[in-house]
Order: sequence, then C-alpha cells, then structure tokens
Amino acid sequence: MKLGAITLQNSVCLATAPWELDGPGYEHLGAIFTKTVTMEPRPGLPGDEGILQVADQTLLNRTDLRTEGAEGLVQEHLPRLRRFGVPVFVSITAPGVPGFRKIARYLQREAGDQLAGLEVYITAPHSGAGPDITARYVREATEAVRNELRDDAAVIVKLPPWPDHIRGLALGAQEGGATALAATNTLKVLHLPANAADAPLVGGLSGEALRPLALRCVWELAHDEKLQLPIFGTGGIFTLRDVEDYLRVGANAVQVASGEWLSPGLSARLASEVALKSTVTR
Ligand SMILES: Cc1cc2nc3c(=O)[nH]c(=O)nc-3n(C[C@H](O)[C@H](O)[C@H](O)COP(=O)(O)O)c2cc1C
Repeated sequence: MKLGAITLQNSVCLATAPWELDGPGYEHLGAIFTKTVTMEPRPGLPGDEGILQVADQTLLNRTDLRTEGAEGLVQEHLPRLRRFGVPVFVSITAPGVPGFRKIARYLQREAGDQLAGLEVYITAPHSGAGPDITARYVREATEAVRNELRDDAAVIVKLPPWPDHIRGLALGAQEGGATALAATNTLKVLHLPANAADAPLVGGLSGEALRPLALRCVWELAHDEKLQLPIFGTGGIFTLRDVEDYLRVGANAVQVASGEWLSPGLSARLASEVALKSTVTR
C-alpha cells in the first residue's frame, strides 16, 4: 500500500499500540498507529480498568479513558515505538478545528522528522464533535492538520462506523487533503452489567461484534466513485481470513486493535502469515 511517499511493507498494521509494546515480530508490520494523544494529558481510567470484555472477542472501551499528552509522546513514547523500524503514525484528537491545528503544529515542530504522519480521530468522545459531526467539520479538521505537516507526511482520517453517513464524512476528509481513510473506530453503545444494581456503562464496542458493520463501511467507501483514497479496514480482525475479507471488500490494508489487546503479539503473527503467504504465492 502506498501512502504518499511511504510504501507499507505489509498490509497488517497495529492500531492503538500499547506504549510499552515489546516482543518479536513487530518489525514485519506495515505500520504502527499509536493510541490517541491530546495536546495536554487527560485524566481518566487507565486502560486496564477502562476496557471490559463483554462477549467472546468483543470489548467495551469506556469513554472516560486517560490520554497521554503530546509532550510525553514526543519525549518518551515515540522513540520506543520507532525502534521496531516500521512507520509510526500518531493518533491525535482535539476539541475542535483550532485544537487539531495546535497539536499538529506542535508534533510537526517537535517530532516532524520522526513521524510517518498523523491519524485524525475525528469523533473521539472528548473531541466535542459528538453526533453533530458533519462533512464540513471533517474537511476543516483534516485541512488544519494537513497544513501543519510536511508535504510527504500522511494524514489518515479515522471514521466512525456509521454506514449511512460515512461516505459524506469521507468526502470531507478527501477534500481536506487526507492521504487515506481508516474505517472504523468503535461503535458507541450502552452496556448493561449483569448485576442490575450496577450503573449502565457508555463506551465504544470493538472486536468481533463490530466486524460486519466495519466491513460494510469499508465496502461503502471502496465502491464510491468519488472517493479515491486508500482505506485501512479496522474492526474485529483476528485471523488471516479476516484480513483477506477486508482486502476483498476494498481495504488496502488493515489495523488490528482488539485482537492485539486480547492476544498480545497477534498483529505481528498475522503480519508474518501475510508475508509468508505472499512469498509462497509469488
Ligand atoms: C484497547 C483499545 C484501545 C483503543 N484506543 C483507541 C485510541 O486511543 N484511539 C483510537 O482512535 N481508537 C482506539 N481504539 C479503537 C481501535 O483503534 C479500533 O478502531 C477499533 O477498536 C476497531 O478495531 P478492533 O475491532 O480490532 O478493536 C481502541 C480499541 C481498543 C480495543
């Protein structure tokens, strides 16, 4: 997959890489995408308390998760993730267009030569955009980020799993100068704990239960004649067959998040399987 100046060596990428990522095989990935950072660190639940397994291979990501700030990313996390030698894309979010501009400017200034690009998390729970998000907002946020980065850095816009609306949002991203799209982020849901006395939990659904919805979103994007951007398929990838299904419906590459969280090293193993298969069939 070509992303501006970069060619990914493998179609399997790791989404929301743990900051402490370690182990063999990650050097075979196409790319590493970081967890989302904000300009300032944001207090909240640590990941191990904020992620619940609600069904087989299905997770609920609580909305009040902690985020790292841009400075911590540059000082500590980025150098660690770059040691695998694959392109690193930093996921960012901000409350509104000026906020996106500010964090993109900071990251370009402080770490521009270390970034393959930025992934724009347009509908983050704390982005302030919420359900009122429009194609115009996506265009303006994308443009703000694009204008701050060096020309050959990629801007990937990560979209929500809304099949009826995703096309318009994607066109906004394309008009704003995005290099690629990622589909999808988690689905907003309400989870009722087994114990009726416990309060309902709001959060984002990911993993197996998300897969049909994310596949549909990728399919909508890939079959739109106005959309020309490459697509990262994301949602419920656990096996080589899942990777192939995403490529079959029109994705150019995939990102693995829940699979890696449930089974650390899965993304590296899938990348090796893909590399092996392409050597055998060549
Ligand atoms: C543990 C965990 C943490 C996540 N953190 C982020 C995040 O920081 N930023 C983001 O854009 N998406 C985040 N996501 C969403 C994933 O990147 C992905 O879009 C979504 O979960 C669908 O893929 P999956 O089914 O493979 O998890 C997270 C998902 C999981 C499971």
